[in-house]
Amino acid sequence: MIAVDDRLDLIHEEIARCTKCALHETRTHTVPGEGSPNARLMIVGEAPGAREDETGRPFVGRSGNLLTTYLSEIGLTREEVFITSVLKCRPPRNRSPHRNEIDACLPYLIRQIMSIQPEIIMLVGGVAISSLIGPWKLADAHGRFYEANGLKFFMTYHPAAALRFPKIADVIRQDLQILRAELDIGGH
Ligand code: URA
Repeated sequence: MIAVDDRLDLIHEEIARCTKCALHETRTHTVPGEGSPNARLMIVGEAPGAREDETGRPFVGRSGNLLTTYLSEIGLTREEVFITSVLKCRPPRNRSPHRNEIDACLPYLIRQIMSIQPEIIMLVGGVAISSLIGPWKLADAHGRFYEANGLKFFMTYHPAAALRFPKIADVIRQDLQILRAELDIGGH
């Protein structure tokens, strides 16, 4: 049974009021995540960027547009998955998250996972992977599933990497075909 405080809207209200780390001082909006509360697939990135901080919505900047495209190529819409990040507030100048920020924020993500109970949690990029399952080299991790604590994770590169290194775009696309087969959905 899902405990009352694991209802997604209540978790998101708590995030909106959160002052557990210094990022609350510099944020414009919290970015709790969005999508279906019954999603089969949950996608976890690193942290909000400028556009996400402005709008309060996850993955709506350049890497977000790429992610949306990659999802549509395997027959998924943003509305039917749930998209979020390890951090719910933007680090200044998009610097990497600090350990204390990850530690402060991770309980929200764990509660989101418990509430949604997705079949697969896709971790995009090294921060999501190391925060949830420990350090992996992306070159080894990408395209692989990893099961722990009754949860099934799938690992790939962050779409921001595809913006910097175009070859990574092909790798992500190939990885997503593996995911598509596991979810047993259409797409091409
Ligand atoms: N990158 C992320 O990891 N998360 C976002 O919400 C946007 C960009």
